[in-house]
Amino acid sequence: MLDPANRGRFKDIHVIYGARAPGMLLYREELAAWERRDDIHMHITVDSTNDPNWKYNVGFVPTITEQKIKSADNAIAMVCGPPIMIKFTQPVLERLGFPPERIILSLEMRMKCGIGICGRCNIGDQYVCKDGPVFSLAQLKQMPPEY
Ligand code: FES
Repeated sequence: MLDPANRGRFKDIHVIYGARAPGMLLYREELAAWERRDDIHMHITVDSTNDPNWKYNVGFVPTITEQKIKSADNAIAMVCGPPIMIKFTQPVLERLGFPPERIILSLEMRMKCGIGICGRCNIGDQYVCKDGPVFSLAQLKQMPPEY
């Protein structure tokens, strides 16, 4: 989406990026570069902090999503992270009006061997490692509620 060859195909980009604490944020240089752009709206958040100089959000990703995303019109939501975050962000996105086919979830955290051998990643007859790991919520709603 940020590649200059593709950028014109997309409008505003909101990035809601959460970590447990400020020291656990990854990709700091990329985050800083994205913050300087006016076509990317950065919403960095941590679960909690005692840092008096912290200038970003404090709160869980689902809460920040609800606060910062004002419209689902012509938008796609992509969610990647720990299953508990995905579990609580998904209903927020649905309440905001994102249809299930435009909520894209990445389920890598379910994978163990990653090559289709251990059988630990399956949801019904789908293997996250072989058939995903990215699924739309519309696809997941057709599967057993195990994700
Ligand atoms: S991660 Fe082992 S079968 Fe998918």
